[in-house]
Amino acid sequence: MHYTICELIADLTQNAIEADAKVISVRVHETETELSFEIQDNGKGMDSETLEKVRNPFYTDGIKHPNRKIGLGIPFLIQTANQTDGTWHIDSQKAKGTKLKAVFSLSNIDTPPLGCLTSLFRQILSFPQNYEMRIDRIKETKDDSKNYSISRSELIEALGELETVESLDMLRTFLESHEE
Ligand SMILES: Nc1ncnc2c1ncn2[C@@H]1O[C@H](COP(=O)(O)OP(=O)(O)OP(=O)(O)O)[C@@H](O)[C@H]1O
Ligand SMILES: [Mg+2]
Repeated sequence: MHYTICELIADLTQNAIEADAKVISVRVHETETELSFEIQDNGKGMDSETLEKVRNPFYTDGIKHPNRKIGLGIPFLIQTANQTDGTWHIDSQKAKGTKLKAVFSLSNIDTPPLGCLTSLFRQILSFPQNYEMRIDRIKETKDDSKNYSISRSELIEALGELETVESLDMLRTFLESHEE
């Protein structure tokens, strides 16, 4: 089960990778009171019937986990939002892509902790597939404000690749420098 919002974002971003998206955009916006995220992909998308089914934990496409009859990413998003006064929205079009947005209230005691954004970004940037990813991170709280963007293709150009321990270490240092 999930313990952090970052784990939830990681799962939902993995869905975009699994849908063969070539361009994925992930936006994380944090204010004093709310944490919202948006994940947009140009992968295989879903028709309205599938979109209806994926809300149900007893639906999975049967490809990824051939012996498992449930999929947890989207139902978990819905359940977490419902239990914490959060909101969620998914738009998807077959063969075009998917856009998912969620807003969580940081003052609700049942909202999971945010978790580690640096680890999340490192994880979603380093799936061993060919895709472009843009990450936008915005933080606007009274103690701190941040606003930075990361492009996967620019990172690969700078680091050579994102597969070896060395390059992933450099990626971590780079991401941490943005969060300091
Ligand atoms: N971004 C997306 N693009 C296209 N199809 C998607 C997308 N996200 C989810 N789906 C479809 O919805 C199904 C359910 O997704 P969900 O994340 O809930 O479960 P899962 O990915 O099958 O399993 P799990 O996340 O537990 O490994 C997926 O199997 C896939 O068919
Ligand atoms: Mg999933």
